[in-house]
Amino acid sequence: MTKPVRVAVTGAAGSIGYSLLFRIAAGEMLGPDQPVILQLVEIPPAMDALKGVVMELEDCAFPLVEEITTADNPFDGFDGANIVMLVGGKPRGPGMVRADLVEANGPIFVDQGKAINDRAADDVRVMVVGNPCNTNCLIAMNNAPDVPNERFTAMTRLDQNRAKSQLSTKSGVAIKDISNMAIFGNHSKTMYPHFFDAQLDGKAATEAIDDESWLKEDFISTVQGRGKAIIEARGASSAASAANAALEHVRDWFRVTPEDDWVSMAVPSDGSYGVEEGLIFSFPVRCDGEGNYEIVTDLELNDFAKEKIKITEDELKKEREIVADLLK
Ligand code: NAD
Ligand code: LMR
Repeated sequence: MTKPVRVAVTGAAGSIGYSLLFRIAAGEMLGPDQPVILQLVEIPPAMDALKGVVMELEDCAFPLVEEITTADNPFDGFDGANIVMLVGGKPRGPGMVRADLVEANGPIFVDQGKAINDRAADDVRVMVVGNPCNTNCLIAMNNAPDVPNERFTAMTRLDQNRAKSQLSTKSGVAIKDISNMAIFGNHSKTMYPHFFDAQLDGKAATEAIDDESWLKEDFISTVQGRGKAIIEARGASSAASAANAALEHVRDWFRVTPEDDWVSMAVPSDGSYGVEEGLIFSFPVRCDGEGNYEIVTDLELNDFAKEKIKITEDELKKEREIVADLLK
């Protein structure tokens, strides 16, 4: 009998939660043979809504789900958790930038970090979706001193997926034939989608798309602004695509990344590419199938890329200053 993996999810009664939980329960994240225990975490006013979500999960009779627990606080919610997905928090509305959420959402991650530290399993892996996700991840990490820093990650997979989709539409190359699309930096309007190393059906993006000004301008700004464009069109922030990316982030953390590709994850910087150590910064990484990753360090960045990386690093330093009193 395979031991079940305990997956804790905050914001479980929210929009992303509603698109995420059923797919985890169906085995799309950890595989069709891996049983799971779902530990769903919400705030007290959302516990009734969460009851309804649990009823629906029960009504699916998922064979892989061994147990579903609910909690209105992270300490009970993260007890023994092997994977913690920090989705809960306010989404931004029209006219806001993600950093505007730092005051509303930042404090949530202090207690969540403490709860991970005190109650999660020794092998816990954490991923943050709630915005501003890099800085919220930094807060959680700093409040969990007994958990190795490299276990804390934030999500830029949605940005990587958005970038691939834009490249596919422009070039006509199928998504499955696009690889090595790295996102550097913050999940914000300063993120840098690094197209120079992207491969489109075996060709460099700059060769497959003979329009460097499109790549340097329209492509980058479309990926950077996609979250905002969705909020304006939908009247609510992305949910199904965010849930899909969260699931892929965790799935690929526990898979061997193909040697000729990488995945984008915001992880604690080790100083690679000159990025200040300790900032939660998106890099291309490769995973070993056991829940470990290594930053891909051998890309030769041109001045354009270095300049873009500096801009997003500076923004993360500013966000860190704003939350200084939440960091220990
Ligand atoms: P939502 O408002 O539909 O749901 C959020 C849920 O979180 C609510 O049910 C709320 O009760 C719950 N919550 C709030 N504080 C909590 C806490 N302390 N503990 C547990 N639960 C808590 O929002 P959503 O659309 O699901 O988005 C959730 C977050 O994800 C937002 O911050 C949004 O900006 C972010 N997001 C990130 C990305 C990304 O790419 N990183 C993409 C999309 C959305
Ligand atoms: C997104 O990128 O869709 C999310 O981070 C939501 C937002 O505020 O943009």
